[in-house]
Amino acid sequence: MPEHNRPLQGKAVLITGGARRLGRAIALAMAEAGADVAITFRNSASEARHTVTDMSGFGVRAMALSCDVTDPKKVKSALKKAVKELGGLDILVNNAANYEAAEFDKLTLAQWDAMFASNTRGPFLVSQQALDRLHERTGRIINMGSLGGVRPWPSHAHYCASKAALHMLTKVMAKALAPEIAVNCVAPGMIDLGEKSAAVFLKRMARQTPMGRNGDSRDVTDAVMFFATSPHFITGQVLVVDGGLGL
Ligand SMILES: NC(=O)c1ccc[n+]([C@@H]2O[C@H](COP(=O)([O-])OP(=O)(O)OC[C@H]3O[C@@H](n4cnc5c(N)ncnc54)[C@H](OP(=O)(O)O)[C@@H]3O)[C@@H](O)[C@H]2O)c1
Repeated sequence: MPEHNRPLQGKAVLITGGARRLGRAIALAMAEAGADVAITFRNSASEARHTVTDMSGFGVRAMALSCDVTDPKKVKSALKKAVKELGGLDILVNNAANYEAAEFDKLTLAQWDAMFASNTRGPFLVSQQALDRLHERTGRIINMGSLGGVRPWPSHAHYCASKAALHMLTKVMAKALAPEIAVNCVAPGMIDLGEKSAAVFLKRMARQTPMGRNGDSRDVTDAVMFFATSPHFITGQVLVVDGGLGL
């Protein structure tokens, strides 16, 4: 493939939760763009192996590391292995997260804490531990936020609040880590990943969306690729990818 089609050639990328769904799509897009990619997984070991095989097909270095982003020791160890294998770190994508619905009056403290531990504390922890490596390479951090961090969804208080906090963390880190590291956030809206159980809901959401459809994984990976390759001067931005649903 010509060099101009491989804008991430020679770059080292770490994507948390990259075994399946959007994380896998981001990993493949980055590998196709020439990056050497380490993904982390928690439970999806076989999906992670599959994603590594598919990334290797683009002629890049690819690896999968077990890591629970809520556990500082596991984050440290995964980062150490990724940096050793890839020779450094240029881009960190904080993708790992959880999503669930819960009626507000039934939402437990355990549910609240678990949501914040993976969706907000996790990206903080991984970013903080990756700082030195990213500093060396004038690196980038891309957080995966959500339309739910912008719009209040009444049956997702903990999820929405965790993503709103991540959006703010993006802006705080952008200021705190400038000028060496650019920090941005992609906030997807309704993304159709082919789940049959969500088909009726997604059809209704597509009707409500100004662009007349739900998003697909390409809409999201293109936005992530934008921040992976955009001028380093762009920082602290939350890019909502929702076809206008949140307007
Ligand atoms: N899909 C959408 O429509 C949508 C909409 C808005 C925002 N987003 C955001 O976009 C990102 C990707 O979305 P997605 O739907 O593909 O995500 P997802 O399937 O809900 O989760 C991605 C991965 O996160 C990992 N994970 C969860 N908790 C973890 C922990 N404590 N430690 C390590 N890994 C953990 C899981 O890895 P294992 O499978 O290995 O356990 C999972 O595969 C997420 O940040 C999500 O919030 C997605």
